Amino acid sequence: MRENTQSPGETLLTRTQIGSRIRELGQQISVDYSGRELVAVAVLRVRFIFAGDLVRQIDPKISLRMDFIAASSYGDRTNSSGHVEINQQLQVDISGRSVLIIEDIVETGRTLRAIQDTLWAADPDSVRTVTLLYKEGPDNRDLTLDYVGFRIPNVFVVGYGLDFAQMHRHLPDIRLLESAPEDGMKDHTVQ
Ligand code: IMP
Ligand code: MG
Repeated sequence: MRENTQSPGETLLTRTQIGSRIRELGQQISVDYSGRELVAVAVLRVRFIFAGDLVRQIDPKISLRMDFIAASSYGDRTNSSGHVEINQQLQVDISGRSVLIIEDIVETGRTLRAIQDTLWAADPDSVRTVTLLYKEGPDNRDLTLDYVGFRIPNVFVVGYGLDFAQMHRHLPDIRLLESAPEDGMKDHTVQ
């Protein structure tokens, strides 16, 4: 079992940096969806903080519905055969509508790919994705990411909604974990 005594270390992104980038993302999304209807879909649990901050930066004149789905990843962090379960149905009918997925962090891209596939199956007009953090790597270069907050190196980060073993989500800054979880260790991550 992992110890959950690992503590947050160096700050990678301050609350000020995060806040001003989210304002920019909100402005860009507001321009792109001007005059259109939008369904924002946030993925529980990680995204509740980012999603809450982002939607409040979207122009109030835009007609925006908000919904949530839950995703769970199984498998270990380095094994690409791990799978993702999407386990909550949408309340909003997205058929024929413009959908914006709100994601916090893309690592392998497995979670996002499963969410995109699930939503496309409901026959929306369009599906775009905003992610606050993107760890660019060989497995995820083909992913469609329409709005990216920050590209970060392949390090394990916590805070601003991101957890290690459900801890540290409440930290206002994004920080490195002092000692990163060991690769290859089996894990069941409920996000
Ligand atoms: P994926 O590998 O892109 O499918 O990412 C899987 C999930 O792992 C993300 O949605 C996050 O919940 C979690 N995750 C990935 N990297 C980090 C990190 O650096 N800190 C905290 N959670 C992470
Ligand atoms: Mg997690």
